[in-house]
Amino acid sequence: MRIYRAKDYEDMSRKAANILSAQVILKPNSVLGLATGESPLGVYRQLVEWYRKGDLDFSGVTAINLDEYQGLAPDAAQSYRRFMWENFFSRINIRPENLHIPDGLAEDAQAECERYEAVIRGAGGIDMQLLGLGHNGHIGFNEPGAAFEKETHRVALTQSTIEANSRFFGRSADGQGLAEQMPSHAYTMGIRSIMQARRILVIVSGARKAEIVKRAFFGAITPEVPASVLQLHNDVTLVADATALEQL
Ligand code: F6R
Repeated sequence: MRIYRAKDYEDMSRKAANILSAQVILKPNSVLGLATGESPLGVYRQLVEWYRKGDLDFSGVTAINLDEYQGLAPDAAQSYRRFMWENFFSRINIRPENLHIPDGLAEDAQAECERYEAVIRGAGGIDMQLLGLGHNGHIGFNEPGAAFEKETHRVALTQSTIEANSRFFGRSADGQGLAEQMPSHAYTMGIRSIMQARRILVIVSGARKAEIVKRAFFGAITPEVPASVLQLHNDVTLVADATALEQL
């Protein structure tokens, strides 16, 4: 595993964007596995800026996102499809037919998971998978205890993930996230789908994640810390800012 120490969030975002850019420049028809959340926002901003300057071309790129809430329409304010569209896809020249995100409204969950795995296989597998790291060590929505051998599947979100993400679903008068508005389940690529990516790029920022960074990358490899499985992958790059690395 390579570890790049960034000064702060902006520096982490630029370094990770550089790695993704190199991937796209060297292989214009790259298949990128992408993530949502706060961590990659700066990466997407930086890639958009370089695209606008004419330095990057996404017309041959295929994007396959990690996960989506079950029960949310594609255009729902909190859907990951909408997040990706607003923060990245609508600002670059990626082709709409090359965008893939699980369908939160699919009627048959099992069929949707199989369809999604077929999409990944049909694209020839993922060249570079971008990952954020959950406070509890989750990657995608693979929560602690998730079997390492799973492919795309439907998961029940844990209380800690509901607490971490409920802020995106509105806030009550006392500032708490509206957990009751949040879907209880999601579709996620499984650990196995993630581990099959040829290269993995993990981005982490902030002191809140310092302990889980240590456990995930230097602790025991266990389903209790899903990201710890990444220690077994032969091409992982971790770009983290100084505060996220402060316990190493
Ligand atoms: C997002 C995803 C999640 C996040 C993780 C970290 O598609 O799959 O695993 O990467 O929850 O979220 P942030 O970046 O918001 O701290």
